[in-house]
Amino acid sequence: MREFFFLIEKRADRYPLGYILGEKEFFNVRLKIEEGVLIARPETEILVEECLKRIPEDKKITGLEIGVGSGAISVALLKNRPLLVMYGIDISEKALQITALNAKINRVFDRLVLLRSNLFENVPQKRFDFIVSNPPYVSEEEYEHVEEEVKREPREALIAGKEGIEFYEKIIGDGKSFLKEDGFFAFEIGYNQRKKVKKILESEGFRAITEKDLQGFDRVIIGER
Ligand SMILES: C[S@@+](CC[C@H](N)C(=O)[O-])C[C@H]1O[C@@H](n2cnc3c(N)ncnc32)[C@H](O)[C@@H]1O
Repeated sequence: MREFFFLIEKRADRYPLGYILGEKEFFNVRLKIEEGVLIARPETEILVEECLKRIPEDKKITGLEIGVGSGAISVALLKNRPLLVMYGIDISEKALQITALNAKINRVFDRLVLLRSNLFENVPQKRFDFIVSNPPYVSEEEYEHVEEEVKREPREALIAGKEGIEFYEKIIGDGKSFLKEDGFFAFEIGYNQRKKVKKILESEGFRAITEKDLQGFDRVIIGER
């Protein structure tokens, strides 16, 4: 009972529910969540759906995820495509630990290669079939206005410079040499970032396809050659 009131107090203090519960349903997987990793959002399920549309069930495909966080995206993709192999990187050791745990719980750990890396720094020089990322995309100014709960999540999982687009520039610019000729990029974007990210993709020779979330906001962008 004492524990219960302690948790109620924490919630009243705007401590995020995901951290209190310690787990989160995402797509068709159950994830362990701890302070220090971003709590996977329902909007990100659209990114998983768009990737799954492009990953055949009967072919060996290798993908790369930049910024795995809790492992939500990679674990959901692996769970739904039994021949898929994923490389997942994050700059945060905690994120890699939680992703490994979630991959084990969901029995996909044998098809996941995890590496600590600042973007592509430690990614092996090979060509992937796709690169997926829900990178930090909140601008410094927007961060000032996010809810108290969001400020309890890791800053480095959310903030991306002055305009919020610096990760897209880096991932597309450096990532294209890690992508097969017919490979694709798949990104979650902020509601107001479609034009800017489309422009970056097009300037690097990719065609951009945008998908909206359930509220009608631009949420996912795919780059195909
Ligand atoms: C918005 S979170 C996404 C987490 C998870 N993929 C999801 O969708 O719930 C961004 C992730 O990128 C990681 N990250 C931030 N900067 C990075 C960098 N320079 N290199 C690699 N990962 C980075 C953060 O640690 C965080 O886990």
